[in-house]
Amino acid sequence: MSYYKHHVFFCLNQREPGQDCCANHGAQAAFDHCKQAVKAAGLAGPGGVRVNKAGCLDRCAGGPVAVVYPEAVWYTFVDSADIDEIVESHLKNGRPVERLQLPPTVGR
Ligand code: FES
Repeated sequence: MSYYKHHVFFCLNQREPGQDCCANHGAQAAFDHCKQAVKAAGLAGPGGVRVNKAGCLDRCAGGPVAVVYPEAVWYTFVDSADIDEIVESHLKNGRPVERLQLPPTVGR
């Protein structure tokens, strides 16, 4: 069994002014909200969920992005309601949220 049931990485990358990146699309707020929601749901910690910051995940065109392992499910999201849905459905109940998944062709 893995140390965490789900390990979530949020790209928080900030590029030079004028260059698009996840940090310009609410990534920090989504990360903060996810950390708080996971903790509030009692899911945080070993055997549960870990939410980590990441640098560029090289899928910037779909930003903001996050990925959940071990399933390797990639998400893009707009607001805290989207994050709440990922936490409740995927991280708590094991059902990935189809409507928020990043299409496989999206890259940098
Ligand atoms: S800046 Fe977020 S994936 Fe590249």
